[in-house]
Amino acid sequence: MSKTLDNQMQQEIDKRRTFAIISHPDAGKTTLTEKLLLFGGAIREAGTVKARKASKHATSDWMEIEKQRGISVTSSVMQFDYNGHRINILDTPGHQDFSEDTYRTLTAADSAVMLIDVAKGVEAQTIKLFQVCAKRGIPIFTFINKLDREGRNPFDLMEELEQVLGIRSVPMNWPIGTGRDLCGVYDRMQSQVELFQGDDHSTIQVQKVEDYNDPVIREMAGEFLHDQLCQDLELLDVAGDPFDMEKVQRGELTPVFFGSAINNFGVQTFLENFLKLAPKPEPRKSTAGLIEPTNEKFSGYIFKIQANMNPAHRDRIAFLRIVSGKFQRGMSVKHVRAGKEIKLSQPQQFLAQDRDIVQEAFPGDIIGLFDPGIFRIGDSLSQGSEVVFDELPTFSPEIFAKVTVKNALKHKQYQKGIDQLTEEGTIQVFQTVSFDDTLLGVVGQLQFEVFEYRMKGEYGVDVQLQRMSYQFARWIIDENIDPSKFRINSTLVKDKKGNYVVLFENEYAMRTAMEKNPTAKFLETAP
Ligand code: G4P
Repeated sequence: MSKTLDNQMQQEIDKRRTFAIISHPDAGKTTLTEKLLLFGGAIREAGTVKARKASKHATSDWMEIEKQRGISVTSSVMQFDYNGHRINILDTPGHQDFSEDTYRTLTAADSAVMLIDVAKGVEAQTIKLFQVCAKRGIPIFTFINKLDREGRNPFDLMEELEQVLGIRSVPMNWPIGTGRDLCGVYDRMQSQVELFQGDDHSTIQVQKVEDYNDPVIREMAGEFLHDQLCQDLELLDVAGDPFDMEKVQRGELTPVFFGSAINNFGVQTFLENFLKLAPKPEPRKSTAGLIEPTNEKFSGYIFKIQANMNPAHRDRIAFLRIVSGKFQRGMSVKHVRAGKEIKLSQPQQFLAQDRDIVQEAFPGDIIGLFDPGIFRIGDSLSQGSEVVFDELPTFSPEIFAKVTVKNALKHKQYQKGIDQLTEEGTIQVFQTVSFDDTLLGVVGQLQFEVFEYRMKGEYGVDVQLQRMSYQFARWIIDENIDPSKFRINSTLVKDKKGNYVVLFENEYAMRTAMEKNPTAKFLETAP
């Protein structure tokens, strides 16, 4: 590569930040995303993201389910520019009926923003998503939202982060008052106060100060709140963790920001600090070792496949995370698994409002590829050499059902549907070892509804699902597997690739099995 091209690549890589927002439903993810897009000028008015959610429903028939339930099951990507940065936000479904897709999407992110409701603290879905991020060791930034409401004490929340998630935290700013008394935050890194004024906290005044003892804060916030602030910050200075960039990068320490997304309060400073601290596109592991973004050959992997965004065509869109090199429209790349050269002619980039045809893209970017049925989750595409990225993990499903086809004559279509929906990652399929029953496993209940709906709509097959009481799946590695050992509150099944998996009804059954089979390995993700 020439020096100028090299420089251009480096600049493109340096300015990119690709991250996901992880949270429990209702914490304010849509609101925060919208404010970030507003700063970037990607949208002009608030309400657009919500409206977009609604309009997407109209263009997709099986998403009728979403419309009926008023939720979004699909995760998408939003790109915008801010202060010389190019930002890719990976959206993760917010409803508790989220799916394995949500987990897989996190593998395409280089960092995560964990959004927490100040009154509710760490909630169930946040824990699950956090764990996936923590396993990858990516940096996690915390935004504690809804500070305009009465909430929990910030020290309690920090304690909870440590107790529940096992991560230490370092507050980057600290609230001056909370709820109705909230008047601003003190920025610990830049020694400045941001004050919110007016009932809606809309006017923000930023003032540089000496430190938190500065009498200027006392004048602005009053004696009571200033005393409280000084007390809290003295304690933090003495007993809190100092900011340590290396620990942040390893995902061992989370920088915490307090704010209120709806009032646009603390959002801009959060964004600016986040952009400074968050990693640029990271290398990914492959059969050829670590692939650096600066590697001149284009490469990437597919982490998500979404069907039927346009009801007129039964097409699918495969989402590809670019790992290295420059993408150019019309380029030919190797589809490594299929052993074929393919031309990437109609790639799409996902902006806030529209899908645009993308001409070029760089490491960290996500592009949507038209998929006539040639891609599977985890497929690698590369230019020149045969790079295969580490397979995306298959996550343990949490809900299971036995599936049967109502009309036996439809067996062929049924099989085709199952195969295709497995490839897309909508469901996981297991066969029981003892009776050869077919079981489906999913992460969220909604996936069953999507499965039934699509089997009927696309393959003309009526299926019957019978819920099973299993809650956990563990891939088992054992030299002498004995199915009779897994009869009480558990069952032995095989996954699509023939790996043995044990399904358990409860944690107790799982623990007992582990104790009784000390030589066996029980894995949370497929080997
Ligand atoms: P989600 O995507 O994480 O599910 O959350 P969303 O942004 O939809 O926000 C959930 C609710 O919380 C919304 O209220 C939203 O207005 C509110 N909210 C978000 N940020 C803040 C904040 O900083 N302070 C306060 N007080 N509320 C906040 P809603 O009544 O459910 O919906 P809507 O009628 O406002 O759309």
